[in-house]
Amino acid sequence: MTLDPEPASPARLEAELRLFAGSHPAGSRLPTTRELVSRHSASPVTVQRVIRRLASEGLVETRPGAGNFVARRTAVRHADFAWQTTALGPARTPPNPVGATLQATPEGSVALHSGYPMEDLLPARLVRSAMVRAARGGEAVERVDPAGLPALRRWFAGELTRSRAEAAPVSAEDVLITPGGQSALASVFRALAGPGDAVVMESPTYWGAIAAARQAGLRIIPVARGARAPLSGDLEEALATSGARIFYAQPHFANPTGTLWTAEDRAAVLDLMRARGTYLVEDDWARDFCIDADLAPLAADDPDGHVVYVRSLTKSVSPAVRVAALVARGPARARLQTDRTVDDLYVSGLLQATAVDVLSSTGWDSHRSRLRAELRTRRDELARQVSTHLGAGALTLLPKGGLNLWVQLPDGTDTSALAARARTAGVLVAPGADWFPTESAGSFLRLNYAGAPPHQFGPALAALASVLDDGTSAVGEAMP
Ligand SMILES: Cc1ncc(COP(=O)(O)O)c(C=O)c1O
Repeated sequence: MTLDPEPASPARLEAELRLFAGSHPAGSRLPTTRELVSRHSASPVTVQRVIRRLASEGLVETRPGAGNFVARRTAVRHADFAWQTTALGPARTPPNPVGATLQATPEGSVALHSGYPMEDLLPARLVRSAMVRAARGGEAVERVDPAGLPALRRWFAGELTRSRAEAAPVSAEDVLITPGGQSALASVFRALAGPGDAVVMESPTYWGAIAAARQAGLRIIPVARGARAPLSGDLEEALATSGARIFYAQPHFANPTGTLWTAEDRAAVLDLMRARGTYLVEDDWARDFCIDADLAPLAADDPDGHVVYVRSLTKSVSPAVRVAALVARGPARARLQTDRTVDDLYVSGLLQATAVDVLSSTGWDSHRSRLRAELRTRRDELARQVSTHLGAGALTLLPKGGLNLWVQLPDGTDTSALAARARTAGVLVAPGADWFPTESAGSFLRLNYAGAPPHQFGPALAALASVLDDGTSAVGEAMP
């Protein structure tokens, strides 16, 4: 085999040497450094660095004075993990509970699958300078209070208090800082229920909540959620027959459907929680993503601690600043604090200090208003492209906030197979089945309008439509 004589980058040089090592018998001599330098227009230092890397992986052997050779391959021993099947027994969660939303985006693909906004929609400048300041402060080198930095807890308490009509202010003492909303949910399901207990959830709902409840050994009792809250008769029956003391819900801009509880829904659910002595776990994940509606959290109207409130910053401040608040009152708060401490002692003070700095900067409010305008543009553009390419009936709702469109395809469409084919065509989408705790109620896709620039929506939807029709076009063909 001869190496490609074209000028090459170090990555290309490395790729070709790997290919050489993989396709030649052990002991074959690699081209000399001098040959590689001239063929690849690389410096001798670069060539040596690449060869050292391959040698450290056992692909290449360097014999001083003699040259570089393809290394001898040692016989591969296949590990025998079969014993673990018996040792582990049944699994609480299916093998891959994470679903499609966390898959990496291959270069050149359009990301309509992820739940996290792209950098253009984040307060990136504020975050970076807050991190620099945080690195200079005490939090960079100190352990912090297990419940969280007082200033950050006060900020979350203040936000909730501002939304309250007349009830007593929320105290910073009621706020626990967690490393993201996901870990807050995992704590709730562990600390406020025990294995075998029931939890009622809207269906469809956030796949991460489904996975966390299963991991805690809970039985999930689904109640259908349409455009509004679950019907109170259905909810009451689910609570009564299962004995569940926890109702997990997303009242605002639910992920994935984008639907919203009305004022009557909110009052009816809170009355039911009070009447049945049940916790409402309010996952307010989209607090910073209101577009056409501003609504106070239900936790703002909860004198007796029925609402356990989860409010994360990871999607709106930065996915790298994994910080959320878990707000609970009464004995539930103490149980949650114990669970948090047992789980991870405390959240890095550096991240918490970064979060307080961003939230209390003057730039935060202006960022949020710009974000609202930008999300509106993107939502409308993606909705337009969905209607154009998949038909007007595909869009189930134009959400008043959040980051997602919930798209319904013809009954019987296998959305997992469709998502796999779309990926090959350069478009990443999330099949709807991941959001159902039981069987999917139809063929749905979740499309996120915050993970890719809006000029890519049209070509991406055109490619998706053609994949749906079993066509072969790829997104790159239509991409401007
Ligand atoms: C509804 C909902 N809740 C909670 C989370 C968890 O978010 P994080 O752990 O990043 O704060 C997510 C993330 O996708 C979500 O969509």
